[in-house]
Amino acid sequence: MRHIVESQQFNRERLLYLFELANEVRTTLIIRNGDRRLSELLIGKVMCTLFYEPSTRTRVSFEMAAHRLGMRVITTEAAEQFSSAAKGETLSDTIRIIGGYGADVIVLRHKQEGASKEAAATCERCGLKDTHIVNAGDGKGQHPTQALLDLFTIWLEMRERGISLDGLTVAIGGDLKHGRTVRSLAYLLKLWKAKMIFVSPPELAIGEDIKQHLTDHGIEFREETDLISALPVANVIYWTRAQRERMGAELRGMNLDDFVIGPKELDIIRRDAIIMHPLPRVDEIAAAVDEDPRAAYFRQAVNGLYIRMALLLDLYRLNPFAP
Ligand code: CP
Repeated sequence: MRHIVESQQFNRERLLYLFELANEVRTTLIIRNGDRRLSELLIGKVMCTLFYEPSTRTRVSFEMAAHRLGMRVITTEAAEQFSSAAKGETLSDTIRIIGGYGADVIVLRHKQEGASKEAAATCERCGLKDTHIVNAGDGKGQHPTQALLDLFTIWLEMRERGISLDGLTVAIGGDLKHGRTVRSLAYLLKLWKAKMIFVSPPELAIGEDIKQHLTDHGIEFREETDLISALPVANVIYWTRAQRERMGAELRGMNLDDFVIGPKELDIIRRDAIIMHPLPRVDEIAAAVDEDPRAAYFRQAVNGLYIRMALLLDLYRLNPFAP
């Protein structure tokens, strides 16, 4: 797999391999405080993080992952403003230049859906054989490495509880119309035949393309407009913020108070469930929920480091833990 642009590129076997590798990385960093098996593996490689939209987790965890593996990192934060995109340069020309300088991995976040596919096509067309494109979020499209860390978190947390990944009930709520993480996650949950309950106001419902995809694959799902119909039966609650920056004026002022998870909602959530959120959280999960053991979203964010390290290793077919 040379470029990582969408969740559909991954199958169960590949995902389980990555989860085992990420878990080895996690154990090595936590228990053994890292070791030279990891820190020198990608010496000589250079990552460029090219972000046209704001980010805390994705950019920093990718850069941290690269540093932990011995890569060097250069970054263009706020690229819309501080790269030559501000002068009208196309994404394709920018990728051609950065790839031409020898970037081994370009981690790209862009406001345009399909931007990473365009960047990957540029690499192919221009003979940039050694440059890998990684989609770090493309508009309302996808965020595949977020989906990897999300499913890795579910895999870890359910394993601790002795619950199988197969056939879980997952309540996915919030702004499902503009959220790219839920789209990427739905493609992966399908591989384990999860039952999905999409919870949102009708104006922010999940896209028809995702529903069609789930229908085509025989996946059970339903849509609800209230929390009560979904929270008590869910093994996993995956909540998201209103993406007001992507909304038109008619939706931007929408009141989503009925879609907040707070202490009252904790009473109807299963004792062995987990509450996830890709973050940033605004007010859709109350801070009072954070210390509940079921609140997994900060653990989930940290898992992003481990899965991204595993992904970088896998781009180069490296596994320091292989027997
Ligand atoms: N979850 C996520 O993509 O967070 P950032 O926007 O902070 O990268």
